[in-house]
Amino acid sequence: MIHFSTLDNVDVSHKTVLVRADLNLPIQGGMVTDATRVERLLPTIKELVDHNAKIILMSHFGRPKGQHLEEESLKHLLPTLEKVFGQPVLFANDCIGPDAIRMADSLKPGQILLLENLRFHDAEEKNDPAFAKALASLADIYVNDAFSCSHRAHASVVAITQFLPAIAGRGMQAELDALSRIMTTPKRPLMAIVAGSKISTKLDLLQNLVQKVDKLVVGGGMANTFLKALGYPIGQSLCEFEMMDTAREIVEQAKTSGCAVILPQDVAVATEIKAHMPRRVVLVFEVQPLDKIVDIGELTMADIRAQLATCATAIWNGPVGIFEMPPFDVGSTEIAKIIAELTRKGSLISVAGGGDTLAALTHAGCSDGFTYTSTAGGAFLEWLEGKSLPGVVALESAISP
Ligand code: 3PG
Repeated sequence: MIHFSTLDNVDVSHKTVLVRADLNLPIQGGMVTDATRVERLLPTIKELVDHNAKIILMSHFGRPKGQHLEEESLKHLLPTLEKVFGQPVLFANDCIGPDAIRMADSLKPGQILLLENLRFHDAEEKNDPAFAKALASLADIYVNDAFSCSHRAHASVVAITQFLPAIAGRGMQAELDALSRIMTTPKRPLMAIVAGSKISTKLDLLQNLVQKVDKLVVGGGMANTFLKALGYPIGQSLCEFEMMDTAREIVEQAKTSGCAVILPQDVAVATEIKAHMPRRVVLVFEVQPLDKIVDIGELTMADIRAQLATCATAIWNGPVGIFEMPPFDVGSTEIAKIIAELTRKGSLISVAGGGDTLAALTHAGCSDGFTYTSTAGGAFLEWLEGKSLPGVVALESAISP
């Protein structure tokens, strides 16, 4: 059980509140392509505005490594913030120093000030106490509303909690509630669907999940390594040959802990990976030498549907095929629809996380169909790996409001 203070434990009225947000938004050609992370801040911002707090927002964007890079300035995000918050947002050209102090001091109740990119100072990533103290000097209370940054032991996430009363924002609280419900006290049977190109990048995750979940579906490129390790032909498919022993060990660990590993029984294959190729589905032992596995097949989808129907909770991370390239999106779209349907019926608690997975959900028209969707990438994975996140630990041991 995680214990931390929230907006319920502090009187913010007329106080200056420094909110750590995650404004590391996806941008293409200078345009924000997905504002979900800003929308998730809205409950905290609204509550602070309603209580006449003076609000200072801080965030990183990109990985500028201590340099002031114009293209990674947070000022480009002002129109998006103003649209979502429905009010003007002021901007300070640096996150510490005279300008930030002057603007913070002249804030009126209900106003919002955005500070420039924290990572323009390399002290941020070094968790530097002097930098954290300078940030803290701008405000009376610190709110962490950035679960997706809480796997980073950085000054605005960790060190700052030693200088100000620190609480979790509403978004952070909702995320921790949802994630605790699935991993700490899940309703069982619990299924995890994990996919992605490589076992090596999700090894800790797979090893933790086989001990915790009742059923583990493995899809995407990483399933090829499992299939190959179990003696199936995979043609020219992506495979980490050096991870085949690891794949076999994971299957053995799963047997010991009573977790059923569900691998594809049939797969969509193509000799060329191009959009709008005909969809050819074969059983896993029928993959030909020139074939590349690009998606799960219909039998596998039916199996996943049947298994999900017996489950009470499902966690999903990683599309099971090349979902950006129809018709290899069919498997991921079908899984999104099955989970959304069972969630709507009330028989399933469902959580999905990670950028690609949420994009697959949007592609399937199921963004609103899950119990909870996490906008966190690395933090979501580390949580599922069973690791403690520095930002969450810091809130637990922070100065109480
Ligand atoms: C994210 O986008 O996952 C978070 O903002 C963390 O970003 P980072 O991986 O650059 O620390």
